[in-house]
Amino acid sequence: MEKFELQELFESLTLNEKIGQLVQLKGNFFSENTEINTGPIKKINIDQKIVKNIGSILNTMGAESVISVQKKYLANNDKQIPLLFMADIINGFRTVFPISLGLGSTFDPDLIKQTAQVAASEAAVSGVHVTFSPMVDLVRDARWGRVMESYGEDTYLNSLYAKSMVEGYQKDLSPENSLVSCVKHFAAYGAPIGGREYNTVEMGERTLLNDYLPSYYAAVEAGCQLVMTSFNTIDGIPVTGSKKMLREILRKEWGFEGVIIADHSAVKELITHGVATDEQEAAKMALEAGCDIDMMTAVYANFLGPLIESNSIEAHYLDEAVMRVLNLKNMLGLFENPFRGANPAKEKIVHTTTEALALAKETVIKSCVLLKNENSVLPLKPEKKIALIGPYSNTRKLSGMWSFAVDQSKVVTLKEGFTACASPGSLRVSEGSPFLDADTELDGFRSNVVESIDPIVSLKEALEVAKESDVIVLAIGEHVDQSGEGGSRAYLRLPEVQMKLLKAMKELNKPIVTLLFSGRPLIVNEIEAYSDAVLQCWIPGTAGGIGIAELVYGIANPSGKLAMTFPFAEGQCPIYYNHFNTGRPVSKSGVGTRFTSRYLDIPNHPAHVFGYGLSYSRFIYGKPQLDKLNLSPSNPIEVSISVLNESLYAGWETVQLYICDCVGSVVRPVKELKGIEKIYINPQETKIVRFTIEEKMLRFIRGDLTFASEPGVFKLYLGTDSEKVQELEFYLTK
Ligand code: GLC
Repeated sequence: MEKFELQELFESLTLNEKIGQLVQLKGNFFSENTEINTGPIKKINIDQKIVKNIGSILNTMGAESVISVQKKYLANNDKQIPLLFMADIINGFRTVFPISLGLGSTFDPDLIKQTAQVAASEAAVSGVHVTFSPMVDLVRDARWGRVMESYGEDTYLNSLYAKSMVEGYQKDLSPENSLVSCVKHFAAYGAPIGGREYNTVEMGERTLLNDYLPSYYAAVEAGCQLVMTSFNTIDGIPVTGSKKMLREILRKEWGFEGVIIADHSAVKELITHGVATDEQEAAKMALEAGCDIDMMTAVYANFLGPLIESNSIEAHYLDEAVMRVLNLKNMLGLFENPFRGANPAKEKIVHTTTEALALAKETVIKSCVLLKNENSVLPLKPEKKIALIGPYSNTRKLSGMWSFAVDQSKVVTLKEGFTACASPGSLRVSEGSPFLDADTELDGFRSNVVESIDPIVSLKEALEVAKESDVIVLAIGEHVDQSGEGGSRAYLRLPEVQMKLLKAMKELNKPIVTLLFSGRPLIVNEIEAYSDAVLQCWIPGTAGGIGIAELVYGIANPSGKLAMTFPFAEGQCPIYYNHFNTGRPVSKSGVGTRFTSRYLDIPNHPAHVFGYGLSYSRFIYGKPQLDKLNLSPSNPIEVSISVLNESLYAGWETVQLYICDCVGSVVRPVKELKGIEKIYINPQETKIVRFTIEEKMLRFIRGDLTFASEPGVFKLYLGTDSEKVQELEFYLTK
């Protein structure tokens, strides 16, 4: 509708109708549909006068469900203001892609953009308007369960992905195939102390501004229409109630004019945090801070009315929030068509198309990271007798948390994938062990993991199968419910029952290829010691079985690069490549005196560094060349390097450019990723890769909190990961 019509509608609203627009509930307040719980479900004593006027619905999906809820709601809504339907669509909808940490390991923002485009088309036809994605929380601690949902530890990479995902979802915001993007969780939710879910976040302002905020800013710059507040505090104030974060930074400095929605129950949790005495105070604090929508609590519903009527809060806070929600609905054309893209007939055509499944396979192939390949045991020849063993060998549960809508019938198991690639009769499969030890706690999720096999019997059967084989392929790893929200773990090891399987297989003295499934970096030292090859498969989604099989048989060539450091031990967490030097760094050899920054009992060096990943190809880097030594704002530097593929396998290589600002007004990281170039090189072919170094790449939040570069000496690193690099030096002049 026209602006003036929207204004007239707004002016006609009663107080309850206004407040209702700021409340989000699950769909089963209006109709029995999928009971998807993504937060604490406590009884919500919400006034029915508000329920009939709420503004949006959480996690109701499916064209028929959405149409049914919208119809029921509008039949009882005096001003005919349609509901917004919002859902968690993180890494795919019906076609599910690898978890975000896997997608992050493709180092391919354009590919990731395509996954968002597919997810948007599939979800829009199923009636969803807004996705609570991308999640771009920077992560440095593998103990945190939601690292699986992030794009890793690097600010530059996270920002590239943030932009790609927002553009991929929103397209031109046409009704048929676009989704409105809600970036989350603002801000720094990925840095809880101890990696413990929902824990306090403590960091200096410069770390927040330099490392953690840029990815959210990239999403806002790309045009995301909503921002979700995070559960955590920053500097002692829960973000959902923080004027500094929401009004000063997000709205005033960044110019964000969209809707700010609280995470599930976060408005009410202001009381639990201890910054609000009761729900009335929580309502006041959150609305004045700039939080527009209260998700799944009755705080706004039951207390904004009394606050306004008693003049305890200025009415403009309410009116501004309501107008932002109405503007979003109007932008989506909901007043003209409350059902927007929802179309039961089209769902069957749009969901899991051949193209979507092909893209799913490509993302599996490009997200897996080859961690070890001793004596080139991989790729396997199809005629080799293979024993595919392990709890992941024949399961369709290959999609992580947040894959509520996955079409399970389209998920390809490893057994199916290997059968498609192996010579007839060369493959035998056996589960080998349950996923979990009997005493493993998963809280409410443990009931999801019904294990019917007997560990002793299954091990015995697996050994019989393995004895007949030439190569043992072990499909093992974390259960999908051991990561995700509420999935923090103090020990990042495989379940004992699976380690027992691995060690028993090793006794057979046959080559062992380990396919490792997890939602996070695990401690892989022992797994690698017992394996000849290890392929990190993350949680691969719909095309998991076929994508991984094609990598194992060399139909595809691994090219993934770690978007997050793999720690040597849990005690190293948080660990990340772009750390500060400290005043007493340990020597390059790793051997230090007592009085250096090191541990007595483990090395500083991680198991695998950021950017690491092997290939079947052998890439030989030439010497990097600079076209000049002095960089100035008007005079960028060109750097080039040749890469030769010395092998018989064509493959993708991601050339990485890092820069170190050697001296600054504040300490600077030992290196920071500033460029990536993904190139496909045929056998015996050489390609030249070029990067342009511009002054703006060197800007940061300085000692006086201004954002600028500082003249001086810089080091430049080019190579295949954050450690295997060649170093050059250049100067930034005024
Ligand atoms: C959850 C998550 C958030 C999600 C929301 C709605 O608690 O923290 O990422 O979007 O609730 O399901």
